[in-house]
Amino acid sequence: MTPTIAEVMGRAPVIPVLEIEDRAQAVPLARALVAGGLPVLEVTLRTGAALEAVAAIRREVPEALVGVGTVTRVGHCREAADAGASFLVSPGVTERLLAAAEAAGLGLLPGIATASEIILAGEAGLRHLKFFPAEANGGTAALRALRGPFPDVRFCPTGGVRPQNFLDYLSLPNVLCVGGSWLAPASALAAGDWDRITDLARQVSGERPRALA
Ligand code: 3PG
Repeated sequence: MTPTIAEVMGRAPVIPVLEIEDRAQAVPLARALVAGGLPVLEVTLRTGAALEAVAAIRREVPEALVGVGTVTRVGHCREAADAGASFLVSPGVTERLLAAAEAAGLGLLPGIATASEIILAGEAGLRHLKFFPAEANGGTAALRALRGPFPDVRFCPTGGVRPQNFLDYLSLPNVLCVGGSWLAPASALAAGDWDRITDLARQVSGERPRALA
């Protein structure tokens, strides 16, 4: 059974956004994050190794829940499903993308930045959305304002979320979790410094996702 996006967002307070250049980094990276208490992983389609990385994590790190991010084309949905992804994340939302995710049998966490996009996603029955890019689009103040017209929508802010501000986001009633790339710095990946990545994960994983709090 593939999880719903509500289940994905309820599993951990932070979803690490992973840019994996070398397929060999995938399994130790996933193990390091799981060891630090962050089992939900988003592998972005920004590198040629991304889909192979997803397949390797799915096969070798069963404790991880791995999804594919940077889904920007209809065809990405099927490719992600074939690689073994459990969910999809996109920076934006279109009707065709929503239909492609459904056809691929995977939940989609679509990015929204405006009220109109929240309405578009809502018309397809989605109320669990990524707020992207969060800081550039007004950060916590924007999310507070969006709660008025959309009290039942729950967000995963991503883009500019950092150790210094992630708790501000998690304290909002309409935020279930946040996403961010700071958990897997390129320098740590290049050096194979998996302990550092586990430490970074531990620093944030103690925060309960709101869905479980
Ligand atoms: C994403 O792909 O969701 C963002 O690029 C992650 O943003 P960050 O690098 O600011 O965390």
